[in-house]
Amino acid sequence: MLDQIFSSAFTWTLIAILAGWYRYATKQRPIFPVVNDYQGDFFRRKAYREYNQNAKRLIVEGLAQHGSPITLRTPDGLKIVLPSALSDWVKTNRDLDHQELIREEYFAGFPGFEAQYTLHAPDNILINLLRTKLSQNGEIIPTVNRHIGPALQHYWGDSGIWSPLDWESDTMGIISRAAASIFVGPEKAADTEWQTVVQAYVREYFAAVRELHAWHAPLRRIVQWFLPHSSACRELLGQARAIMQQVVQKREQEARTAEQQGLAAPQYNDVLSWTMQVPNNKHPAGDIQLALAMAALFTTTELFRQILIDIAKHPELVEPLRQEIQKSLSDHGLGLAALAKMELLDSVMKESQRQIPVTVGLERKVIRDTSLPDGTRLPKGSHIAVDSTDMWNPEVYEDPEAFDGYRFLKRRHAGENASQFVQSSREHNVFGGGRHICPGRFFAATELKLCLAHILFEYDLRLKEGYDSQPMAHGVYAIVDPVAQLEIRRREKTGELAF
Ligand code: HEM
Repeated sequence: MLDQIFSSAFTWTLIAILAGWYRYATKQRPIFPVVNDYQGDFFRRKAYREYNQNAKRLIVEGLAQHGSPITLRTPDGLKIVLPSALSDWVKTNRDLDHQELIREEYFAGFPGFEAQYTLHAPDNILINLLRTKLSQNGEIIPTVNRHIGPALQHYWGDSGIWSPLDWESDTMGIISRAAASIFVGPEKAADTEWQTVVQAYVREYFAAVRELHAWHAPLRRIVQWFLPHSSACRELLGQARAIMQQVVQKREQEARTAEQQGLAAPQYNDVLSWTMQVPNNKHPAGDIQLALAMAALFTTTELFRQILIDIAKHPELVEPLRQEIQKSLSDHGLGLAALAKMELLDSVMKESQRQIPVTVGLERKVIRDTSLPDGTRLPKGSHIAVDSTDMWNPEVYEDPEAFDGYRFLKRRHAGENASQFVQSSREHNVFGGGRHICPGRFFAATELKLCLAHILFEYDLRLKEGYDSQPMAHGVYAIVDPVAQLEIRRREKTGELAF
């Protein structure tokens, strides 16, 4: 009897897997030429290797050769790459959706990945708050600023002797604590347990996504119960929910006590309190915090790392940057106006971002059958993206392989507004565009400028002698050198600047 049940359960599981596999395989019919298909490459080993190591070349040469959109075969399926001339078409087309794509590629429905669901939930609570309350909010600047000094003291210390940074934690730690001052507020921003949970979740989450992509799509819902990074996500989510629940209860209790005493309740200016004020918000506070960390930490930390490397490689930038920061702060005081005047720093940040950009932008899923301007049909379910290799195109950027900290400052002074860090354009679209343009880009700019201002005045930086650092390509993405050897030394207090 048991044998029969087992064999029938086994049979049904097999049928389900095969059906899923068939659906997955039949979904995968290319419309445009596949640029990484090779004769005899039955297991797609060469296709994926080429995609992982040479996506930029595949895109540039493929678009030039075919004079039409192309298809990239990626370990996660087929991706259509459109030429950059179609950027505006993508930005304005309502049959294309960014959030659907992210939900699918980043497994929003999986247990432990609820933070991803919360980030892109259909009620848009979080994204709306980022747009309306976080972007260009000058009131948060002193709070972020106050947290950076202690964070640097904690992670970077105050030794006057050159010493290596712990590249992974000493960079993410600074960004995480600066961001937490506004995401979670005073109770937990610098709390070691909370910081450990949040940073670990971000690391585990992206590792879990990579881990799952290595499995065939129909099997992922099953194997995620056993894979180590996915399991760690479930564990960390539970911890984050418990910690945040305590903070929410504490704030609710404070409000009740104040009311009983006829006093005004304490006011908080952070994302936690903004979300507590949204009527009918059903998202657990822990999920909201992890959603924010997921969107904000990895992206901003990666750029922070690249800027540190670029400044270390170009020490001639340090003095002009210090002078600009000092003048901006003394002319305007600490606030949005001063940060806006840090134009060279803005240019350096944008140029560093150009060193590690994705080779495609505007990634979207087709949610209803749609047609390109030339009439070619894009069926529902296709994954598309737009070529962004113009960032290395010599017709767009002179000497594109070189790092020039003044590049965007010069373009800005020549009247090109899109040269500001927070602007996205066809030639530099790392923040995307249209209705899904990154709502956190102003906050990222604020955070980075404040962190870098502190660092430039408080530390000297250099790469370890003989060490050269290069970003690493990984498919259409690039990551900063993961083992960069950066050394720091606390500067003598000069009294030049007091934050
Ligand atoms: C240097 C740092 C950052 C980079 C490079 C970056 C990049 C991006 C990109 C490329 C998109 C997709 C846009 C599109 O396809 O049109 C995006 C979306 C998003 N980003 Fe950022 N981001 C950064 C920092 C942040 C920060 C600090 C936050 C939060 C405070 C944030 C929150 C979001 C959210 C919520 C979305 C989804 C928007 C939507 O789906 O409508 N990002 N970001």
